[in-house]
Amino acid sequence: MAKFEKANSLNEWLDQRLAINTIKRVMNTEYWIPKDINFLWAMGMVLAATFAILTISGIFLLMYYKPDTSMAFDSVNYTIMTEVGYGWLWRHIHGIGASLVFLIIYIHMFTGIYYGSYKKGRELIWLSGMGLFVAFSAEAFSGYMLPWGQMSYWAGMVITNLFSGGSLEAYGLVEWIRGDYVPGDAFLTRFFMLHVFLLPLVIIGLIVLHFGTLRIPHVNNQEGAEIDFEESADLWKAGMKKESKVIPFSPVFLSKDVFVLGVYFMLFFYLVFYHFNFAMDPVNFDPADGLKTPAHIYPEWYFLWSYEILRPFNKDIGLIAFGIAQAALFFLPFIDRSPNVAPAHKRGLFKWWFWILILDMIALTALGKLPPEGIFNDLGLFFAIVFLLMGPALFIITMFEKKIEKGA
Ligand code: HEM
Repeated sequence: MAKFEKANSLNEWLDQRLAINTIKRVMNTEYWIPKDINFLWAMGMVLAATFAILTISGIFLLMYYKPDTSMAFDSVNYTIMTEVGYGWLWRHIHGIGASLVFLIIYIHMFTGIYYGSYKKGRELIWLSGMGLFVAFSAEAFSGYMLPWGQMSYWAGMVITNLFSGGSLEAYGLVEWIRGDYVPGDAFLTRFFMLHVFLLPLVIIGLIVLHFGTLRIPHVNNQEGAEIDFEESADLWKAGMKKESKVIPFSPVFLSKDVFVLGVYFMLFFYLVFYHFNFAMDPVNFDPADGLKTPAHIYPEWYFLWSYEILRPFNKDIGLIAFGIAQAALFFLPFIDRSPNVAPAHKRGLFKWWFWILILDMIALTALGKLPPEGIFNDLGLFFAIVFLLMGPALFIITMFEKKIEKGA
């Protein structure tokens, strides 16, 4: 066993047992971040902080929530909202956090796409990020079931119904997922288990993996410049800070992250206190009723674009279209054939591709909330087909993209 000297301070005591000075030294002098990055590079930390807030508020809600179809609705809408001290606050924090986490995930993803941060060497950052996107989607969906309101029930019904498409019907897959013919007690308790236990574990594992994948390739920068980190770090250490292209993670980069986090939390708590209904669907304030289908069923805003890719087609084709759309995003690093790691505005046709993708997803999101009738249905079909063509289009335009000479 190591020899433990008498410690003269808490820092020394902790250092002997946890090597905290080594961690500080690594973060201050051995973990380097490119200088040429903007506030968008703080979104990863914003996501990590939002996940922490979701976990803490979730633990408080868990103390009073009842995973039983006869009690769930009241435990949320009555007990937590009116009887438990500050129960309403934790619920609003959890609801706003769940919505904002997706806004930030989309900003973070599109930053990666715009700057080509998924290219050679950084593929695993992207793949682990997409793993997080899928895990967060499952986490949000399972959480939405828990208040057992009308939208929980009917969204659960519609989404699990997808698993009865085509020949899947014969295997009884949808009944196996629900544990019954329709969403009921077995359904609620298994989604409860997924939401509070299994999926958070998966998310934590994926976050560790995502951070690990950043270690060797380092984060990208605004120009996609290939930086010699060792040389630049030596310049910084020698006091030539202007000439160096990097900054130490702590405290220099961290101070920027903390500033962005401060601004973000102002918005976060403004929404929590003044606009909490932004994250709550009014239909979900009616208790689940399997005999009363709501006039119009739609998911939360962050799933609308995917929903609108499913909806204009019949069930089987819709499911295939949905699968293709998700797979195209997942395998983006391998579909983009261009060697250029550069911002979209320097990449010719790719710039147009990027903005068409964003506009198409916004149009799909808007249409997903509208009833699938008349012109809305036709427009939905049009924008869904555009989305499906974006993958092949990227493959073709990037095959012919001219190589950018660095420094140009
Ligand atoms: C929700 C959990 C997530 C957390 C906590 C997280 C965290 C981070 C952090 C801390 C960074 C480094 C700093 C930065 O660029 O912001 C990063 C980088 C990155 N993340 Fe995520 N991320 C998450 C989800 C995602 C998703 C959904 C994607 C997209 C599929 C993604 C793709 C990337 C990429 C490509 C980079 C590299 C950026 C660069 O090199 O410039 N991440 N992430």
